[in-house]
Amino acid sequence: MTTKEMVYIALFAALIGVLGIIPPIPLGFIPVPITAQTLGVMLAGCFLGRKMGALSLVLFIVLIAIGLPLLTGGRGGFSVLVGPSAGYILSWPIAAYLIGYFVEKIWSKLALWKVIAINILFGVIFVSLIGAPVMAIITNTSVWAGLVGSTVFLPGDCLKAVIAAVIAVQLNPVSPIEEKTK
Ligand code: BTN
Repeated sequence: MTTKEMVYIALFAALIGVLGIIPPIPLGFIPVPITAQTLGVMLAGCFLGRKMGALSLVLFIVLIAIGLPLLTGGRGGFSVLVGPSAGYILSWPIAAYLIGYFVEKIWSKLALWKVIAINILFGVIFVSLIGAPVMAIITNTSVWAGLVGSTVFLPGDCLKAVIAAVIAVQLNPVSPIEEKTK
Protein backbone atom coordinates (compact mmCIF):
# COMPACT_ATOMS: atom_id res chain seq x y z
CA MET A 1 0.00 0.00 0.00
CA THR A 2 1.32 3.46 -0.89
CA THR A 3 1.58 6.40 1.50
CA LYS A 4 -0.98 8.24 -0.61
CA GLU A 5 -3.45 5.38 -0.21
CA MET A 6 -2.90 5.38 3.56
CA VAL A 7 -3.50 9.13 3.67
CA TYR A 8 -6.78 8.79 1.70
CA ILE A 9 -7.95 5.96 3.98
CA ALA A 10 -7.19 7.97 7.14
CA LEU A 11 -8.71 11.11 5.61
CA PHE A 12 -12.02 9.43 4.86
CA ALA A 13 -12.19 7.69 8.24
CA ALA A 14 -11.69 11.18 9.73
CA LEU A 15 -14.30 12.71 7.40
CA ILE A 16 -16.90 10.16 8.49
CA GLY A 17 -15.99 10.97 12.09
CA VAL A 18 -16.47 14.69 11.38
CA LEU A 19 -19.90 13.96 9.84
CA GLY A 20 -20.73 12.44 13.23
CA ILE A 21 -20.59 15.95 14.73
CA ILE A 22 -23.83 16.72 12.88
CA PRO A 23 -26.46 15.87 15.51
CA PRO A 24 -28.41 12.65 14.87
CA ILE A 25 -32.17 12.62 14.47
CA PRO A 26 -33.42 10.10 17.04
CA LEU A 27 -36.57 8.20 16.13
CA GLY A 28 -38.77 7.20 19.04
CA PHE A 29 -39.99 3.95 17.51
CA ILE A 30 -36.65 2.58 16.31
CA PRO A 31 -33.39 2.47 18.35
CA VAL A 32 -31.17 3.60 15.45
CA PRO A 33 -30.89 7.30 14.60
CA ILE A 34 -30.83 9.13 11.28
CA THR A 35 -27.21 10.16 10.73
CA ALA A 36 -25.21 12.09 8.13
CA GLN A 37 -22.43 9.51 8.41
CA THR A 38 -23.95 7.33 5.67
CA LEU A 39 -23.15 10.16 3.26
CA GLY A 40 -19.47 9.59 4.10
CA VAL A 41 -19.81 5.83 3.59
CA MET A 42 -21.19 6.28 0.07
CA LEU A 43 -18.67 8.99 -0.74
CA ALA A 44 -15.80 6.75 0.41
CA GLY A 45 -16.96 4.06 -2.02
CA CYS A 46 -17.62 6.22 -5.04
CA PHE A 47 -14.67 8.59 -4.61
CA LEU A 48 -11.95 6.24 -3.33
CA GLY A 49 -12.95 3.02 -5.08
CA ARG A 50 -13.37 -0.45 -3.61
CA LYS A 51 -10.07 -1.04 -1.82
CA MET A 52 -9.50 2.32 -0.15
CA GLY A 53 -13.25 2.87 0.37
CA ALA A 54 -13.64 -0.40 2.28
CA LEU A 55 -10.40 0.09 4.25
CA SER A 56 -11.42 3.59 5.35
CA LEU A 57 -14.57 2.08 6.87
CA VAL A 58 -12.62 -0.79 8.43
CA LEU A 59 -10.35 1.80 10.06
CA PHE A 60 -13.39 3.80 11.19
CA ILE A 61 -14.89 0.71 12.84
CA VAL A 62 -11.58 -0.24 14.52
CA LEU A 63 -11.39 3.29 15.95
CA ILE A 64 -14.95 2.98 17.28
CA ALA A 65 -14.18 -0.46 18.72
CA ILE A 66 -11.20 0.85 20.69
CA GLY A 67 -13.40 3.53 22.18
CA LEU A 68 -13.06 6.67 20.08
CA PRO A 69 -16.31 8.66 20.25
CA LEU A 70 -16.73 8.92 16.47
CA LEU A 71 -20.41 8.11 16.17
CA THR A 72 -23.09 10.78 16.51
CA GLY A 73 -23.62 11.99 20.05
CA GLY A 74 -19.99 11.19 20.87
CA ARG A 75 -20.63 7.43 21.08
CA GLY A 76 -17.99 4.76 20.63
CA GLY A 77 -16.71 1.58 22.20
CA PHE A 78 -17.23 -2.10 21.53
CA SER A 79 -20.75 -2.06 22.97
CA VAL A 80 -21.99 -0.05 19.98
CA LEU A 81 -20.84 -2.86 17.72
CA VAL A 82 -23.09 -5.35 19.45
CA GLY A 83 -26.03 -2.95 19.89
CA PRO A 84 -29.05 -2.18 17.66
CA SER A 85 -26.90 -0.27 15.13
CA ALA A 86 -24.36 -3.10 14.79
CA GLY A 87 -25.61 -4.55 11.51
CA TYR A 88 -25.75 -1.14 9.87
CA ILE A 89 -22.26 -0.14 11.02
CA LEU A 90 -20.66 -3.50 10.16
CA SER A 91 -22.25 -3.44 6.70
CA TRP A 92 -20.55 -0.13 5.90
CA PRO A 93 -17.14 -1.51 4.72
CA ILE A 94 -18.88 -4.05 2.48
CA ALA A 95 -21.20 -1.34 1.12
CA ALA A 96 -18.21 0.94 0.38
CA TYR A 97 -16.44 -1.99 -1.32
CA LEU A 98 -19.44 -2.81 -3.52
CA ILE A 99 -20.02 0.85 -4.41
CA GLY A 100 -16.33 1.23 -5.26
CA TYR A 101 -16.28 -1.98 -7.27
CA PHE A 102 -19.17 -0.96 -9.50
CA VAL A 103 -18.06 2.69 -9.82
CA GLU A 104 -14.65 1.43 -10.99
CA LYS A 105 -16.45 -0.80 -13.53
CA ILE A 106 -18.31 2.16 -15.06
CA TRP A 107 -15.39 4.60 -14.67
CA SER A 108 -14.73 5.00 -18.41
CA LYS A 109 -18.43 5.75 -19.02
CA LEU A 110 -19.16 7.59 -15.78
CA ALA A 111 -22.62 9.11 -15.56
CA LEU A 112 -24.31 10.72 -12.57
CA TRP A 113 -27.41 8.52 -12.77
CA LYS A 114 -25.29 5.38 -12.73
CA VAL A 115 -23.42 6.49 -9.58
CA ILE A 116 -26.74 7.42 -7.93
CA ALA A 117 -28.14 3.96 -8.80
CA ILE A 118 -25.04 2.22 -7.41
CA ASN A 119 -25.23 4.28 -4.20
CA ILE A 120 -28.93 3.49 -3.74
CA LEU A 121 -28.44 -0.23 -4.42
CA PHE A 122 -25.49 -0.76 -2.10
CA GLY A 123 -25.33 2.29 0.18
CA VAL A 124 -29.05 2.34 0.95
CA ILE A 125 -30.78 -0.98 0.14
CA PHE A 126 -27.89 -3.34 0.94
CA VAL A 127 -27.11 -1.51 4.22
CA SER A 128 -30.79 -1.70 5.23
CA LEU A 129 -31.07 -5.38 4.34
CA ILE A 130 -28.18 -6.15 6.70
CA GLY A 131 -28.86 -3.51 9.35
CA ALA A 132 -32.62 -3.91 9.85
CA PRO A 133 -32.68 -7.69 10.51
CA VAL A 134 -29.72 -7.41 12.91
CA MET A 135 -31.49 -4.55 14.72
CA ALA A 136 -34.65 -6.70 14.91
CA ILE A 137 -32.78 -9.70 16.32
CA ILE A 138 -30.92 -7.59 18.91
CA THR A 139 -34.10 -5.83 20.03
CA ASN A 140 -36.19 -9.02 20.01
CA THR A 141 -38.65 -7.90 17.37
CA SER A 142 -39.59 -9.60 14.13
CA VAL A 143 -37.30 -9.19 11.14
CA TRP A 144 -40.32 -8.02 9.14
CA ALA A 145 -41.07 -5.27 11.70
CA GLY A 146 -37.41 -4.24 11.55
CA LEU A 147 -37.45 -4.03 7.77
CA VAL A 148 -40.71 -2.07 7.74
CA GLY A 149 -39.46 0.29 10.48
CA SER A 150 -36.20 0.92 8.65
CA THR A 151 -38.06 2.27 5.61
CA VAL A 152 -38.08 5.54 7.59
CA PHE A 153 -34.41 5.91 6.58
CA LEU A 154 -35.06 5.57 2.86
CA PRO A 155 -35.93 9.19 1.89
CA GLY A 156 -32.93 10.67 3.73
CA ASP A 157 -30.57 7.91 2.60
CA CYS A 158 -31.63 8.36 -1.04
CA LEU A 159 -30.95 12.10 -0.72
CA LYS A 160 -27.48 11.29 0.68
CA ALA A 161 -26.95 8.85 -2.22
CA VAL A 162 -27.61 11.68 -4.69
CA ILE A 163 -25.39 14.17 -2.81
CA ALA A 164 -22.51 11.65 -2.61
CA ALA A 165 -22.84 10.86 -6.33
CA VAL A 166 -22.86 14.55 -7.31
CA ILE A 167 -19.73 15.20 -5.22
CA ALA A 168 -17.94 12.10 -6.56
CA VAL A 169 -18.74 12.93 -10.20
CA GLN A 170 -17.64 16.55 -9.72
CA LEU A 171 -14.40 15.40 -8.09
CA ASN A 172 -13.76 12.59 -10.56
CA PRO A 173 -10.64 14.22 -12.12
CA VAL A 174 -8.92 14.17 -8.73
CA SER A 175 -10.24 10.80 -7.59
CA PRO A 176 -7.63 8.11 -6.89
CA ILE A 177 -9.74 5.87 -9.16
CA GLU A 178 -8.86 8.20 -12.03
CA GLU A 179 -5.15 7.75 -11.30
CA LYS A 180 -5.45 3.99 -11.50
CA THR A 181 -7.17 4.10 -14.88
CA LYS A 182 -4.61 6.51 -16.46
C1 BTN B 1 -25.54 5.02 15.08
O1 BTN B 1 -24.88 6.04 15.10
O2 BTN B 1 -25.71 4.27 16.05
C2 BTN B 1 -26.28 4.66 13.84
C3 BTN B 1 -25.45 4.10 12.75
C4 BTN B 1 -26.32 3.45 11.72
C5 BTN B 1 -27.35 4.37 11.09
C6 BTN B 1 -28.16 3.69 10.03
S1 BTN B 1 -27.20 3.52 8.55
C7 BTN B 1 -28.58 3.45 7.50
C8 BTN B 1 -29.66 4.27 8.13
N1 BTN B 1 -29.61 5.63 7.70
C9 BTN B 1 -29.48 6.46 8.71
O3 BTN B 1 -29.45 7.71 8.59
N2 BTN B 1 -29.41 5.80 9.87
C10 BTN B 1 -29.44 4.38 9.64
